[in-house]
Amino acid sequence: MSLDLQKARVAWNFLYNDILGPDTEQGIVECYSQHAARYDLHIKDIGYNVPATAAKLLMKYGNLGPESEVLDVGAGTGIVGKELRELGYKGEIDGLDGSSGMLKIAESRKLYRNLVQQFLTSDCALDVGDVMYDAIVSIGVFSPIHVSASVAKSFFNHVKSGGVVIISYRVNETTTSDSEYIAELKGAIKSICDEGKASVIAEHLTDFYGVNFFAGDPSKPCAGMCLCLRKT
Ligand SMILES: C[S@@+](CC[C@H](N)C(=O)[O-])C[C@H]1O[C@@H](n2cnc3c(N)ncnc32)[C@H](O)[C@@H]1O
Repeated sequence: MSLDLQKARVAWNFLYNDILGPDTEQGIVECYSQHAARYDLHIKDIGYNVPATAAKLLMKYGNLGPESEVLDVGAGTGIVGKELRELGYKGEIDGLDGSSGMLKIAESRKLYRNLVQQFLTSDCALDVGDVMYDAIVSIGVFSPIHVSASVAKSFFNHVKSGGVVIISYRVNETTTSDSEYIAELKGAIKSICDEGKASVIAEHLTDFYGVNFFAGDPSKPCAGMCLCLRKT
């Protein structure tokens, strides 16, 4: 898909200046709320591809049917839910996010059964009661100053044995904090696997954004990873 680089630049500035400006997780979640109404448009202009990729992987590895229950952590405006429905997923989808503004838009899509507002911290349990999900997906969430890498561990308390967890992260490391965060995340995943809680079933390299204004040539995609794990 060829993108309009001028529009993409505006969208990139929106993302990296307006939303990702604050230096605290709480501040960033508040910015998501404040700018939620513009999120879908800008994210489209930037060629944000990873929710569509994750939905395809979920359909491929999730063994999902009409009775399935999927949890979308950091659901935002509900783009992952939209992608899943477009692929014909007929089961339930619950969503969880810290931003009331983003959730309001997700609610308006009428694709989710329950939407829970919860600000995730490193040691918290997901506020989803005792539902054991067939799959948990979390896209665009494992990023510096969003959620702590250790939040991934809590997902395995809320997914059935044999169920799938899919998370994404940006692969392009532009700052030391990006590299540190990715190393932390890989460490958290390794310890989940070493403890025998899950195994990696696919490491799917994909385009995270269709552009990359961190690089010399912004017209080249910004790479991302969709990591698929199966609970033991
Ligand atoms: C880039 S958006 C991704 C939204 C959606 N998954 C998508 O792909 O469009 C990141 C989302 O994570 C949420 N988020 C970030 N940090 C969070 C935290 N600590 N607790 C809960 N939600 C958080 C934001 O509110 C935002 O909706």
